[in-house]
Amino acid sequence: MSDDARILKLKGEILAKVGEYYRLAHQDRPFVPGTSFVNYGGRVYDEAELQSAVDAILDFWLTDGPRAADFSASLAQYLGLAHVLTVNSGSSANLVALTTLRSRQLDCPLEPGDEVITPAATFPTTVAPIVQNGLVPVFVDCKLGTYNIDVDLLESAVSERTRVIFVPHILGNPVEMDVVTSFAATHNLYVVEDTCDALGSTFDGIPCGAFGDLSTFSFYPAHHITTGEGGAVGTNSAKLHHIAHAIRDWGRDCWCDHQSTAGGECKRRFDWEIPGLNEPYDHRYYFTEIGYNLKMTDIQAAIGIPQLAKLPEFAWTRKRNFQVLYNDLKAYEEVLVLPSWSPKADPAWFAFTIAVRETAPFTRQDLNTYLREHKVETRYLFAGNILHQPGYRDIQHRIATPLVETNRVLKSALFIGTYPGIDEARLDYVLQVFQDFMAQWI
Ligand SMILES: Cc1ncc(COP(=O)(O)O)c(C=O)c1O
Repeated sequence: MSDDARILKLKGEILAKVGEYYRLAHQDRPFVPGTSFVNYGGRVYDEAELQSAVDAILDFWLTDGPRAADFSASLAQYLGLAHVLTVNSGSSANLVALTTLRSRQLDCPLEPGDEVITPAATFPTTVAPIVQNGLVPVFVDCKLGTYNIDVDLLESAVSERTRVIFVPHILGNPVEMDVVTSFAATHNLYVVEDTCDALGSTFDGIPCGAFGDLSTFSFYPAHHITTGEGGAVGTNSAKLHHIAHAIRDWGRDCWCDHQSTAGGECKRRFDWEIPGLNEPYDHRYYFTEIGYNLKMTDIQAAIGIPQLAKLPEFAWTRKRNFQVLYNDLKAYEEVLVLPSWSPKADPAWFAFTIAVRETAPFTRQDLNTYLREHKVETRYLFAGNILHQPGYRDIQHRIATPLVETNRVLKSALFIGTYPGIDEARLDYVLQVFQDFMAQWI
């Protein structure tokens, strides 16, 4: 037997053992109501992800490699985008996206002090890269129920420094992108979509993440698919993609991929001309951007490939779980604000958000404590109002209109899970816990 044949055989045996290991060590433990936790989110996987990761480890590529290229190509195809760049988190994706728009390679880059319209009810790393890039966030109120930016207020946020609208689809609920894109066209703004919570959601039949000049994704375990840590930046613009690629990779200009030989795919690696230097230079060390190193590893991408294949099923289950919760919890609308969404939206819900009405006989704290005591995991809605967070209190910013609804989110909202790890038994249990809680108060 040749060495190649032995390697292949050995690999097959190892991967079969990994499958066996998965079934013994990882497969779901039975759900015991009242004892097992009903998490709000988490990894949902089978032996395919474990085998794919081990396969990548046996190849030992380790850094950004062929699997990252496959994963980004599949994701681009799913979204109908020309380019997807893998990165090491959704936060890095947001940083890359905003930094890209500051590039001197653009005809009209963003300048320090330029304004970015965004909601104040948000995840912190949507605001962080605005501040890190010397830009000024202009906060717009949200709508209780959708928890998204209130698109009716966009006009009130515009000034002569406005250059970008940066919208997160909060908890999987699509923002009204028809309004956002026509508003952006009127005022000549870049659109950046934070799609970290909304992979699999659509608006007017178009995937969230396919509307913006740039869009960002997260593959943290609670999200629609996971690579452990991980994220991506999508765009239809070859130029923006090229700049984003450089910012992700230390700021270097070279675009040759992992298969590059010493000469690079372009075949002129060592013949590159740097302006002002009278001799050729190595394109691999030719830096056009002030960059970072935010790459995804091949092992992470290996996990992402089978996860992406499961996305339609995951999205379907999230929608089913949401609907079951919604149908039942509707009975408590007098005391709870239930989620709402645009008729054009088909959300693959990240979670089920509830706001406790001011007129309710109990507080959010009462409900939260009860749910947690009964093993139903909860979260508050990210930063609530970002300006109330100590790290953000002193940032330079502008407030378009009073953040009335945002402050209601801060004080009254929480969410529970819709993720595919929640099956019918868990849903029944969660609804029973709500019923028992409500019986004490109404
Ligand atoms: C809307 C939003 N943007 C960005 C992020 C950051 O993603 P990551 O945790 O991968 O950095 C999150 C995280 O959950 C998010 O919900």
